[in-house]
Amino acid sequence: MSLTNLGVSLVKRLPAERAHTATIRALKLGLGVPMTTKPDPDSLSVTLPISGLKLPNPVGLAAGFDKNAEAFGPMFKFGFGMVECGTVTPKPQAGNPKPRLFRLTEDRAVINRMGFNNEGLGPFVRRLKNAGPHTGALGANVGANKTSEGQDRLKDYALGLSAVWPYCDYLTINISSPNTPGLRGLQNKSELADLLKLCRLAADKQESTRPVFLKVAPDLDSEAIADIITVVKDARGFLTGLIISNTTIARPETLQSAHKGEGGGLSGAPLLAPSTEVLAAFARSLDGTFDLIGAGGIASAADAYAKIRAGANAVQLYSALVYEGPNLAQNIKHDLLHLMKQDSHTKITEAVGAAL
Ligand SMILES: Cc1cc2nc3c(=O)[nH]c(=O)nc-3n(C[C@H](O)[C@H](O)[C@H](O)COP(=O)(O)O)c2cc1C
Repeated sequence: MSLTNLGVSLVKRLPAERAHTATIRALKLGLGVPMTTKPDPDSLSVTLPISGLKLPNPVGLAAGFDKNAEAFGPMFKFGFGMVECGTVTPKPQAGNPKPRLFRLTEDRAVINRMGFNNEGLGPFVRRLKNAGPHTGALGANVGANKTSEGQDRLKDYALGLSAVWPYCDYLTINISSPNTPGLRGLQNKSELADLLKLCRLAADKQESTRPVFLKVAPDLDSEAIADIITVVKDARGFLTGLIISNTTIARPETLQSAHKGEGGGLSGAPLLAPSTEVLAAFARSLDGTFDLIGAGGIASAADAYAKIRAGANAVQLYSALVYEGPNLAQNIKHDLLHLMKQDSHTKITEAVGAAL
């Protein structure tokens, strides 16, 4: 058994949040982290068409794993093409009372109601500033403090964007966490328009340009999707893409685990189909005018490939790491090459939207 696999099986015996804390500590110490990473084949490289963001491969680590930007270096060594740190809020905050993270092992799923626990912008930005060279794209995902209301909530996003802007390769505006009361209300038409206007003003003051993504929930009906599309079209030029999706507040009847009744956002396998449907709906309407990053329930190359075929230019995952361990990105990339070959694709970009 490799050191990495041994570490994974030991960590799996701990309660979920302690396991995560132990994992971040181990990563910071370099325990089980590969010394070198084989460069990705050119067939997996992606340049996002609207953002111009270059990725060595389309498999990313979703936000929430490295909330405080402490472990992105090691995670790049595990082969991710992008690592998204955060969500970071302007002020540090403790998040919700524990327990707040649950493994639904029988369902290959996770429920979390962390509530944006994080150390705040100060330490986050300091760590991004000290980032050494990395192989993939480094993302910073920004949100609002729980105590900020009304206009202050919108200002939190502008503050976050301005602070991280110079030190990351792309930014994400996260309005889709179910664990900060009222946050997902920012997906409503007029609030979203106000938020994006304020964020655009902050972006206009920056000397450099950056790709900016908006991360949305999977719990959107066709009217809500249409509203978001209307607003994001007005933000073209500033906003370059969407991340679809965050966790869901739905609880499918198929769930088996004892923890299925816990409050919070559900992620992992049960989210694959619904989040891919919402992704496809956005892809059909936006028709290549925004870059799309697909997230939700990816645990294999087939899952990643399904998202890409449904219109994703790249993908992100988190929950499956709990069950599959840190070599998942490498395994997915290896198997993606086979799936591409079956469909006679010489570049992964040829598969984007093939199922639409
Ligand atoms: C424990 C946990 C914490 C998360 N925290 C964040 C977060 O801080 N910001 C965010 O945008 N998404 C967060 N997410 C959502 C993930 O980034 C991702 O969108 C979602 O889990 C779906 O992908 P998955 O099924 O591969 O996990 C979190 C997910 C989990 C499981």
